[in-house]
Amino acid sequence: MTSATLTINGKEIELPILEGSEHEVGINISKLRSQTGIVAYDPGYGNTGACSSGITFIDGEKGILRYRGYPIEQLAEQASFVEVCFLLIYGHLPSQAELADFREQLTRHTLIHEDMKKFFEGYPPSAHPMAIMAAMVISLSAYYPDTPDLVDLNIIRLLAKAKTIAAFSYKKSIGQPYVYPRNDLDYTADFLHMMFAVPAETYTVSPTIAKALNLLLILHADHEQNCSTSTVRMVGSSQASLFASIGAGVCALWGPLHGGANQEVIQMLEMIRDDGMNTQKYVDMAKDPNSDYRLFGFGHRVYKNFDPRARILKGAADEVLAELGVSDPLLTIAKNLEEVALQDDYFIQRKLYPNVDFYSGIIYRAMGIPTDMFTVLFALGRLPGWIAQWKEMRGDAETRINRPRQIYNGSGESTYVPLNQR
Ligand code: ACO
Repeated sequence: MTSATLTINGKEIELPILEGSEHEVGINISKLRSQTGIVAYDPGYGNTGACSSGITFIDGEKGILRYRGYPIEQLAEQASFVEVCFLLIYGHLPSQAELADFREQLTRHTLIHEDMKKFFEGYPPSAHPMAIMAAMVISLSAYYPDTPDLVDLNIIRLLAKAKTIAAFSYKKSIGQPYVYPRNDLDYTADFLHMMFAVPAETYTVSPTIAKALNLLLILHADHEQNCSTSTVRMVGSSQASLFASIGAGVCALWGPLHGGANQEVIQMLEMIRDDGMNTQKYVDMAKDPNSDYRLFGFGHRVYKNFDPRARILKGAADEVLAELGVSDPLLTIAKNLEEVALQDDYFIQRKLYPNVDFYSGIIYRAMGIPTDMFTVLFALGRLPGWIAQWKEMRGDAETRINRPRQIYNGSGESTYVPLNQR
């Protein structure tokens, strides 16, 4: 199968067919408008392949996720987040020397310009850390020249400084002094130290918490053309800089239908707890066609089977809570909710399964991460994916400025009536 035939107004046109390396098939309609004057209509882009990409493969029907060909289960079990960053961005697993060099570079670029602290000071304590995170990522371009010749250095800067920014945004929200990065700690331990150390006390990073964070960051590292990644590509397609494009991705991630869902899940589970553990009531509300209510952490545009990340996190939630000696009624409610929903016809027919956000919040809570910070941690994990996708897009000869069309359904031509005659 090399082409498809489309008949419009009695005229036949041939549309080339593309096949990906995992046999995904797409009809290339890039010449559709110039040949017929007609556009493809696909609100929400559910049927639109906007690019070719060699970074992440998902088979939503089978519940498969691979970064650069490596199954997520293997990476989650055996790799470090920094190794996964290298894999996604540079396209291959690092050798020992490459990894050592990459780690060293990430360690050497963790400080943010001292003047940037003034921004943190300007925010009210109630500011959501995602607002600070997005603004600070874009502000990096004001302090570090963001020109094409500096892309490689800025990729390192962004990965290294984002965790300092994330931790500073938390310290700001609780009114504690900032804790500076430490070069003797690895990526995850350094972040946890900046989050939780206080000057008057010694803080030792728990290996269980560091391991859990490493897992969470890996599971969030990329997910092909999701809303925030498509935003990064969209903004980057105008040749906006790395920091500007990724700052836009942070904003897109914040929404409750995307990365913001991890915060919503915990709020939903707390509501169920405070409402006498009545899970069925919330399942019924989510099914009610007259209500907008949704079960957060359920459903996915691509997965029509278990999200493999949710499966890994469900197991990890049990392990991490047991190792930390934490007993959280929200975990019991979550498992109960999952069981009720998965036996319900509404969820079965629509193939709605728990997604990555369903169990992640319970692990973050056990680690002592406040709810407001959950989406910031998602952003930290997603950074290598955004960077890899941005880099791929900029190096792709097919990239044009992203500019969808529309079907106009507004008023016809109208004659302007001066103000005093209306
Ligand atoms: N609870 C109840 N019903 C749902 C849910 C849910 N969580 N998700 C989808 N549905 C229903 C819809 O109402 C719709 O029903 P209908 O056919 O009777 O109208 C059907 O399932 C299909 O849903 P869509 O909204 O068309 O699916 P879409 O692919 O556009 O949305 C999304 C995917 C946004 C993830 C959706 O499932 C949702 O809102 N989930 C809750 C929020 C969430 O957990 N987001 C995180 C996603 S993962 C991530 O971004 C990291």
